[in-house]
Amino acid sequence: MPRILSGVQPTGNIHLGNYVGAFRQWVDMQHDFEALYPVVDLHAITLAYSPDELADRTLEAAALLLAAGLDPDVCTVFVQSHVPEHTELAWLLNHLATVGELRRMTQFKAKAETGGEGALPAGYFNYPVLQAADILIYQADRVPVGEDQRQHLELTRDVAERFNARFGQTFVVPEAYIPKVGGRVMDLQLPTAKMSKSSASPAGRIEVLDPPEAIRRKVRSAVTDSGREVLARPDKPAISNLLELFSVATGSTVGELERTYAGRGYGDFKGDLADALIAFLAPVRERYHELRGDPAHLRAILEQGAVKAQAIARENLALAKERMGFLPRSSG
Ligand code: AMP
Ligand code: TRP
Repeated sequence: MPRILSGVQPTGNIHLGNYVGAFRQWVDMQHDFEALYPVVDLHAITLAYSPDELADRTLEAAALLLAAGLDPDVCTVFVQSHVPEHTELAWLLNHLATVGELRRMTQFKAKAETGGEGALPAGYFNYPVLQAADILIYQADRVPVGEDQRQHLELTRDVAERFNARFGQTFVVPEAYIPKVGGRVMDLQLPTAKMSKSSASPAGRIEVLDPPEAIRRKVRSAVTDSGREVLARPDKPAISNLLELFSVATGSTVGELERTYAGRGYGDFKGDLADALIAFLAPVRERYHELRGDPAHLRAILEQGAVKAQAIARENLALAKERMGFLPRSSG
């Protein structure tokens, strides 16, 4: 069975973009692939964070994944830092990625433009190499992610190809898998920016754990485009985004929704969209609260996941080190 891997950072504020762009696919794909889903906590320390909250956020992200429908008996959910082989492989791969290409990563460029690159932690710069290690250490064939991760996946492929060319065929060269609808959910207040965990205004972000009133309020205050027609068009980024979310939440196509709301204006549309999103997220929120009520059970699931993941990671790390010429320990 082909293997897939994808990760989420435990940085809080998990939102509709994460759910629609990523988690939903992960749930569907767990049955058709051997699937590994780490909560990537080592990626969550690259910028200022609170040590008091990291562990709790990690449990929160894991509970959300399970609440979204990942079944720990079918797939492997684990915590990245519980499998330290990731970090060791990242060090090795740091010698296959170049400073020039890491400097071209748009996430890094954006940060460097706002505050200058000099003060950024070196870990922030190197983060895409750790991501490559997360993927390659499992020989993943496919990586289901949102559109924003495309460039990181290209880098991962380049690193794998370079390793294979230099040290002999070792790593599977993985492919990105990006959904056609919902791969890039936009901010409800600023529809030219992606919905993000760290955006300044929480009003533009619907969080998976938002209570119904909050969802209704955010949908009602979502910005719209000029005109009154409910149509998905490049010059109507706000309505196009809302239509896409409506489509994902209900299973109706964007075309069907456009016909339903033809001539009815934004008011009705927004009311119905809020209802649809509330119904869409309610079961996830309920299961989440059940899972959070039993942290011992949650941690047992993550332990079981780490054991399964580490068995694979250990083997592939050993292979990479052998190919690179390291002296093995005589105890094997
Ligand atoms: P992150 O929030 O960076 O931990 O991302 C977790 C997953 O959610 C990744 O696969 C991202 O590509 C995806 N994702 C994040 N934001 C969005 C968005 N606005 N639209 C679609 N997918 C997203
Ligand atoms: N960089 C990804 C993000 O910000 C998270 C991530 C880390 C990831 N390691 C990964 C995604 C491996 C897919 C595969 O969303």
